[in-house]
Amino acid sequence: MDLMNIVAIEGYIQTTYIAVYPDKLLLLDSGCRCDVDNILTYITEVLERPVAQLKTVMVTHMHPDHAGGAELLKQKTGCLIVSAKSKKAWYQGILGRLSHLNDLGLTYYVASRQGKSVANVWYNPILKVDVEVQDGDPIPSFEDWTVLETPGHTDRDLSLWHAQTKQAYTADLILIIRDKFVSPYLITLPHAYRASLNKVKALQPEIILLAHDKRAKICDKDFDRLMDRAPRKPRKTSLRSVLSTAVVNSRFARKRVKTP
Ligand SMILES: [Fe+2]
Repeated sequence: MDLMNIVAIEGYIQTTYIAVYPDKLLLLDSGCRCDVDNILTYITEVLERPVAQLKTVMVTHMHPDHAGGAELLKQKTGCLIVSAKSKKAWYQGILGRLSHLNDLGLTYYVASRQGKSVANVWYNPILKVDVEVQDGDPIPSFEDWTVLETPGHTDRDLSLWHAQTKQAYTADLILIIRDKFVSPYLITLPHAYRASLNKVKALQPEIILLAHDKRAKICDKDFDRLMDRAPRKPRKTSLRSVLSTAVVNSRFARKRVKTP
């Protein structure tokens, strides 16, 4: 068994994880662009490793807090960017670019609700992926991890499964609000979302690593409850809808906008 330890770094609006091996590092999502310096400082000062040990950054989906730092990290470390194989870019075309701006706005909104100041979160909406992966593929250079396609939040979400330690990084598939597992507000494909939950449940993970919380233990009942309560129709996040919800019910909005 490879010796591996997973550490968590608090990012701008998310938690970013590094799988630490004796001679290499795997980043589970890139964080926002403004998180890149913190991630590199963590590698050099806390882990006391050269940044060149960062071999791979996985990008589970294209939202700013998951993909935003990837290209800058590649420039600074030479790491590979690995993400889902997909026919078209998530932020394709004019509507896609508007959606990208909307998601950047939502990132600032969530950051401001968390008391954070404005930082640079801009990134290219069209990600240059070095290696495209599909369901069941190993992560390049980290073959003890398996890629799972878990769409629903967006059309291309990945989760990452480490069978030896029964841990799954589930990105935005599952959130915790007030100690309860909940679905993200944005569900673009409800049917696929349920199937994705079922796929992760079938693996019987002992720990899930959440992008908007920390590690959590999860049981079958938790998965069943999530599947029961998940929306049956697509649910979209637009800045306008989130802000209007905030006016009507700020408490509700504060809980639900944790994930853009
Ligand atoms: Fe997301």
